[in-house]
Amino acid sequence: MRLYDALTAYSCTDAVPMHMPGHKRQAQDYLIGADLDITEIDGFDNLHDAEGLLRDAMVHAAAVWGSTHAAFCVNGSTGGIIAGIHTVAGQGGTILVARNCHKSVWHAIELCRLDPVWLTPPVADECDIFTSMPPEVVEDALTKHPDARLVVITSPTYEGIISDIAGICAAAHRRGVPVLVDEAHGAHLGFAPFPHGAVRAGADIVIQSLHKTLPSLTQTAIAHVQGDLVSYAAFLRSKNIFETSSPSYLLMASCDGCAHLLADRPELIADWHAMLADFRAQTAGLRRLRVLAPAGADVFAHDPSKLILSTRGTNLTGPALMTRLRDEFAIELEMASGDYALAMTGLGTTREHLHRLADALAAIDATLDDTPAPATLTLPPPPEQAMRPADAIAAPKALLPLEQSEGRIAAGYLWAYPPGIPLLAPGQRVTRAALDAIAALRERGVELKHTIEVIK
Ligand SMILES: Cc1ncc(COP(=O)(O)O)c(C=O)c1O
Repeated sequence: MRLYDALTAYSCTDAVPMHMPGHKRQAQDYLIGADLDITEIDGFDNLHDAEGLLRDAMVHAAAVWGSTHAAFCVNGSTGGIIAGIHTVAGQGGTILVARNCHKSVWHAIELCRLDPVWLTPPVADECDIFTSMPPEVVEDALTKHPDARLVVITSPTYEGIISDIAGICAAAHRRGVPVLVDEAHGAHLGFAPFPHGAVRAGADIVIQSLHKTLPSLTQTAIAHVQGDLVSYAAFLRSKNIFETSSPSYLLMASCDGCAHLLADRPELIADWHAMLADFRAQTAGLRRLRVLAPAGADVFAHDPSKLILSTRGTNLTGPALMTRLRDEFAIELEMASGDYALAMTGLGTTREHLHRLADALAAIDATLDDTPAPATLTLPPPPEQAMRPADAIAAPKALLPLEQSEGRIAAGYLWAYPPGIPLLAPGQRVTRAALDAIAALRERGVELKHTIEVIK
């Protein structure tokens, strides 16, 4: 039985709720969803020790995504990622991490007192975004760091760039090292006709935000654990540490409902994919703006649901395009940076949404002039990791204007959010190259702080 149906049936009974939560299922106009919001009462299982309704729902979800084990996460991919890293490397050690990882990875590095080795994928020619992580980069790092305990890769990225996870897993698994894929942006991957995702590619831990691209409430995510290198029981133990002991039944019913929708209505995925193809055809004739479909040697695959709107070579920056779409056309994008803006679609996207975006882009396009594109922004390699992040955070700090921080060891983060990838991070020595890259990003309209904490 779907969890939603069980909750709805229960809400129609006259059972007296002498248990949490305090609203006692009394709907109020300031309280949404109270009628279905219960706690771990008889018959409704317990997420942290699932052996009934919730276990069945998660077994069903694993079958839908094709993994061995699936666990609902109610603290987003953030909680799942921290739990995944803690499972494998909770007691310290070296981990290999894609440089374009989310801040949750950083927070796990801090908490577990890890020593990160940064892996940098190439930057795209047509836009300042990271491309796929080459398996050879991972292979090389594994050879140089035979003590590495885990590889952490973001795939797809915020912009939809997918890496060759099967190739990366082959390199890591040869050495007995597990791979965690942050697939927060790719819960829909693997559902035809979208490209395959990290579950099929054999990653040991795959964390997906259901809420980012699928119809599910904000905060819902799912963790897949498979293979012999990571124990599912150990993962659940770690997840227990980082998630509330009172997981919301509304959120869990949303996870379950999402899994059933994918299983029962595959045509919705096909429609979404077809709409995206139509949108790309409709916008192919733009004169100056471009909807990118990254390809080429550095791109293993691209998720077409992410619409990268390039302003390169026009007199508009990415953030300015985002503002015009909002102010003139009531279209709110996900993010903008440098010379692109990102329109994120999802299973709930309609043809009307895409037509409005295509029409708005055509209208803006007609107003633009050609401008020589600025030089491609090459992000410098991550600064030297002079200290373990956890030690840098614990050290006495001083706040400095960025421009005066060259040569100092950062004790805090400097990041643009979204996408939440730090440009400077605790324990890294601030370099001239990093400061120049930050200044160049700022010139392109990216909002960044002007100060940073450094070690005294
Ligand atoms: C690449 C990436 N990973 C993880 C997360 C965290 O996901 P959640 O918001 O579900 O916690 C985000 C959020 O934006 C993200 O962009």
